[in-house]
Amino acid sequence: MAVWKRTHMCGELRSEDIGKKVTLNGWVAKSRNLGGLIFCDVRDKTGITQAVFNDQIPQELFDRADTLRSEYVVGITGTVRERESKNPELPTGDIEIIAEDLVIYSQAETPPIYIKDDDNVDDNLRLKYRYLDLRKKKMQDNLRFRAQLTNIARSYFAEEGFTEVETPMLIKSTPEGARDYLVPSRVNPGRFYALPQSPQTFKQLLMVGGTDRYFQIVKCFRDEDLRADRQPEFTQIDLEMSFVDVDDVIAVQEGFMSRVFRELKGIELATPFPRMTWQQAMDRYGSDKPDTRFGFELQDISEKVKDCEFKVFTDAISAGGSVRGICIDGGASVYTRKKIDKLTEAVKSYGARGMVWMKVTEEGVSSSVNKFFSPEQLQDIASSMGAKAGDLILIISDSNKVVWDSLGFLRRHIAGEMGLLDDEQYNFLWVVDFPLFEYDEKEDRWSAMHHPFTSPKEEDAGLLKTDPHSCKANAYDIVLNGVELGGGSIRIHDRDMQEDMFKALNMSQEEIDEKFGFLVEAFRYGTPPHGGLAYGLDRLVMLLTGEKSIREVIAFPKNQAAQCMVSEAPGLVDETQLEELGIRLR
Ligand code: AMO
Repeated sequence: MAVWKRTHMCGELRSEDIGKKVTLNGWVAKSRNLGGLIFCDVRDKTGITQAVFNDQIPQELFDRADTLRSEYVVGITGTVRERESKNPELPTGDIEIIAEDLVIYSQAETPPIYIKDDDNVDDNLRLKYRYLDLRKKKMQDNLRFRAQLTNIARSYFAEEGFTEVETPMLIKSTPEGARDYLVPSRVNPGRFYALPQSPQTFKQLLMVGGTDRYFQIVKCFRDEDLRADRQPEFTQIDLEMSFVDVDDVIAVQEGFMSRVFRELKGIELATPFPRMTWQQAMDRYGSDKPDTRFGFELQDISEKVKDCEFKVFTDAISAGGSVRGICIDGGASVYTRKKIDKLTEAVKSYGARGMVWMKVTEEGVSSSVNKFFSPEQLQDIASSMGAKAGDLILIISDSNKVVWDSLGFLRRHIAGEMGLLDDEQYNFLWVVDFPLFEYDEKEDRWSAMHHPFTSPKEEDAGLLKTDPHSCKANAYDIVLNGVELGGGSIRIHDRDMQEDMFKALNMSQEEIDEKFGFLVEAFRYGTPPHGGLAYGLDRLVMLLTGEKSIREVIAFPKNQAAQCMVSEAPGLVDETQLEELGIRLR
């Protein structure tokens, strides 16, 4: 069956086209026989056009049109005419096609999901029939938007002197710190490749290799627990630059973001973006990726309550923690006791053992800790936090980490519940001066907060030998509306400093050689000062399209259990395959 050459896409025809003879190809979105008339909506990625089969056509053609069902694939030829009852919801709603001929390319069984943007179908079903889900306009729009963004990235970074280079997928473990996906090597029995968590080591080797400015849109793999903004395989826009400092890297990124927003959203971003130190971000927002679209900033009241009678507060302080709270403007009436109980339950997953609340009224302060404080003391705490009648105060006392994590969660969660998150407002922010190291409580050891190739800030370089764990890093994250869009750092290019870094991490020579020997060796042969950054492309597209999950902007994402519902990966393999790989399953 020859394919009919289409003259237009299904979303293109307008009143100007009235009288034209046209051919469309597409899927039947809807077909209904109203006696002498058959209305058939044809859909492709650009939209929908209504075609009409009337009694002027041969009976055979009318009968064929009468067999059309949803999702049949057809070609329709006819003449555009003005529609009697116009449909203002559709861009093509002023016209219809009087069909003169029809070809049915293929029939379709009743689809297991509706092809409708707001279809509330179970996620796993959507993912299993992703190819049907992708027929939805929203999904096609998202894919197109993503492609436009990668086109802009390619042209922007090329203009800025970046060379696009592909780095290998079968590599040795990278230093990103998540769990690796391993690939057994048949020709090297007992040995495994790791899929890259990022091209980090290779992009640094490219700098040693003289590439000067590297860029890549690249798949990365991390075996982590899934979240709305996390997939086991995701895409980075990855870059590295030689002979640069933090300001140089940041300037290039602000240029990139400005271009993306100008071309894709018609928005002129104000640059430079604000910068905030990691310490400020934690103290003010309880998060290293603060959402600055709303207030509810954290306030430290440790000093105020350090001598109070409430042991929960004083114990936290004497154990080196703190007592901090947030004041929710107008929150007192929004949050009933029941809703507050829910919040208390929710912060438990951040390690908080409890939450203190205070409601400020004209008559005074009522609180979950009335017993331990005089009315004057409660009023004093509320006033010191700037609370006025009608406000709700939530307080957490614990280790700083638990306090930050809990309040950081609460302020964002509450802002969401109170409808304060404006999707059309884009608050960019650089978080800088991260600690170089962080203490890993589970493993009871220090680890690099970014990775072991991140350099300390120049003024802290001396500390690397004497008091390494107090060093700040030459690292930066770009944050948009509470989402970490990307991160990077200026790397260590000095051999002695790299050795000190490994020492501070308590890495043995053996471990260094095994993990990063090739990189350390490369650095012996002339290394330019260099630094870079990687964006999470999926997250960027998610925020710009107003989606709530990166799954909406990935053609074939994994489900919550890291499975590909379409192909049913991961799958079982047969015995001979395992034998060849020298693997026996327990
Ligand atoms: P980092 O680990 O911060 O840095 O990753 C960079 C960005 O990638 C995105 N991202 C993810 N997106 C979706 N799913 C995931 N599982 C996931 N993990 C990370 C985030 C993050 O900001 N090599 C360094 C970069 C550098 O130092 O140049 C790196 O990979 O948006």
